[in-house]
Amino acid sequence: MFDFLRKKSKSESENKLFFSTDIHCHIIPGVDDGSKNLSTSLELVERMHGWGIQRILATPHVTQDTFENNRQTITPPFEQLREAIVEKGLDIELGHAAEYRLDEFSVSQFNSGDTMTYPNNYLLIENSFVQEPLNFRQLLFELMLKDYRLVWAHPERYSYYYDKAKRKAYADIHGIGVKFQVNLLSLTGYYGKEQKRIAEELIEKGLVDFLGTDLHNHRHADAIEAYLASKDYRRHRQALEGKILNDKAF
Ligand SMILES: [Fe+2]
Repeated sequence: MFDFLRKKSKSESENKLFFSTDIHCHIIPGVDDGSKNLSTSLELVERMHGWGIQRILATPHVTQDTFENNRQTITPPFEQLREAIVEKGLDIELGHAAEYRLDEFSVSQFNSGDTMTYPNNYLLIENSFVQEPLNFRQLLFELMLKDYRLVWAHPERYSYYYDKAKRKAYADIHGIGVKFQVNLLSLTGYYGKEQKRIAEELIEKGLVDFLGTDLHNHRHADAIEAYLASKDYRRHRQALEGKILNDKAF
């Protein structure tokens, strides 16, 4: 009987994440297409806590026309969620940065001098899903010249790099010093087979620096929970444990 109990608790611990800091999620209520209200945000935080997350750096979208967020729009709901977490007695540290889509609005924000970075000036950027941003490489260099340390959100989701001839872009961009953040949801297959295959290829090539949940809602949380119990997860964990920077960079 005791053997049985021991086995059970081992398998439960295997269903946790192997890092405790999530650096990419949309759980601040009402600021983007993530959590719509405080109670949903709290439920999502509780689920993340169950996966072993102890520190959340939320990253609301900053996107021209759709989510033109800045510190003024994000701080009040962020503080509301932080207080609610403390009130609930959850052992979770909450901070935030932002996920900047590379467009004119974001560039204006970078020039405003009030960019919402992670600690140590790490900056989360994303591309459009339709096409590479205009003058992309030049923009990356300009941001690096401003001393931002770039973290590229979900490179595996930009299908315009999937073509064999275009795929070299990944090694090139990583080679100039841009860190790559792959989504757990890509590794689950949630977005599709191609996204999963490219994410696995990035792991094989040693191009994955951070993992993120990119959690927006309960559906995403369901997919991550199923993944944590899967063989895929054990395989990916084996390849990445000790290598990613989630708990080290900031
Ligand atoms: Fe995101």
